[in-house]
Amino acid sequence: MWAGVTAGETDRLADDFNSSIRFDSRMFREDISGSMAHAAMLASRGIITDRDCELLNEGLAGILEDLQSGRLEIDPNAEDIHMFVEQVLTERIGETGKKLHTARSRNDQVALDLRMYLRGECDEISRLIRKLAETLTALAEEHGDTIMPGYTHLQRAQPVSFGHYMLAYAMMLLRDLDRLADCRKRINVSPIGCCALAGTTYDTDRRMEAELLEFDGIAMNSLDGVSDRDFAVELMGALSIVMMHLSRLSEELILWASWEFGFISLSDAFTTGSSIMPQKRNADMAELIRGKTGRVYGDLMGLLTTLKGLPLAYNKDMQEDKEGVFDACDTVKMCLKILSPILRTMTVRKDNMLKAAQKGFINATDLADYLVKKGMPFRNAYKISGSLVAACIRTDRVLEEVPIEEYREYSELFAEDLYEAIDLKNCMEKRSSEGGTSQASVEKQIAYVRSVLNDDKDIH
Ligand code: ARG
Repeated sequence: MWAGVTAGETDRLADDFNSSIRFDSRMFREDISGSMAHAAMLASRGIITDRDCELLNEGLAGILEDLQSGRLEIDPNAEDIHMFVEQVLTERIGETGKKLHTARSRNDQVALDLRMYLRGECDEISRLIRKLAETLTALAEEHGDTIMPGYTHLQRAQPVSFGHYMLAYAMMLLRDLDRLADCRKRINVSPIGCCALAGTTYDTDRRMEAELLEFDGIAMNSLDGVSDRDFAVELMGALSIVMMHLSRLSEELILWASWEFGFISLSDAFTTGSSIMPQKRNADMAELIRGKTGRVYGDLMGLLTTLKGLPLAYNKDMQEDKEGVFDACDTVKMCLKILSPILRTMTVRKDNMLKAAQKGFINATDLADYLVKKGMPFRNAYKISGSLVAACIRTDRVLEEVPIEEYREYSELFAEDLYEAIDLKNCMEKRSSEGGTSQASVEKQIAYVRSVLNDDKDIH
């Protein structure tokens, strides 16, 4: 291929080192449809004949079919997917194959392929996120009145419903969807026609090519068009945030599945035993999701570091963009796929959640609020409630067990209705402020999540 300025053969080791076919062959579909659009554009401008275009398209369609069916194998010795396709094409259709690369360079070609590939990944990942959000919403629907302790500082704080808890994660996923949709806008800009770096002397029609390939617009500066990998960085940024959310949920599952919490039991299908300790049921899958989060962050940092200080325009360093971003996409997809069934098949141990909610004085705020509603300033009420909790701790009781006479020693404002006020179920139900944990609020949240998911559904 390089017979031109260079006369000698390149070193075998150098060839292997230089080659990207091992990881860029997964973009063969994008490469081929990009080439088909390119041929159509060249013909529409009279740069090649219609007959040439026909031959190129037939040849390219044949390669696509043969690669898909496995009749044609990727040559591991090719330098990259672009060279491979062009080489096979020329072998198959002869001289006309050599016309395809008119008014284009691998620099704009690789940027095009990567953008097309990643917009597809964006869509697939969004689909999986929506599925997970639906699973969480279904759990919320089932557990709108399942009481559990909510925590701050990992200390029992106030009662919340398990449904409310699940919806917190659904909200995170909605933001993730939004971020991906936004990032997709910047991915979906066509670099083709920027050529090597400076544009071309041919009378090309970049917009036609972009439209054929379903891009929303074209890169407006050719140097930028071939140098820009912001879109891959941005995608990995969004994916890192997805993983951060999944790892937080995974961590909760790991904790809840422990003997100490006992809030859930994971299905046998999603736990593993220990090779030595017969009693173990480890939450390996959730741990792996937590662990793989570091890997996706690493992919993001890798590309940011590769691009740092890189001069314009194309530099071979940029070949390093692909493995990381592919790995990030693959990892996120795998984690999303496995998390939904883990959640669907787990058993929610309502009894243990309630037991935990009954200990830890998570109705102490409500006791203070009771006094406030009877006219006491909050700070004073807070103090009394705190003293009662301290007395209960000393005597190993919970607030519900303290007799009314004893309450009245702390304040004359206490009456029989205080027991209703500190009843856990009531405590939960009374938190009916918008976005709160009451059943009515949970139902509103479910409707909100569903409406966003339905609105989104037909986008891509
Ligand atoms: N395999 C290369 C990459 O992934 C394609 C672009 C090569 N361009 C060049 N001027 N060497 O970046």
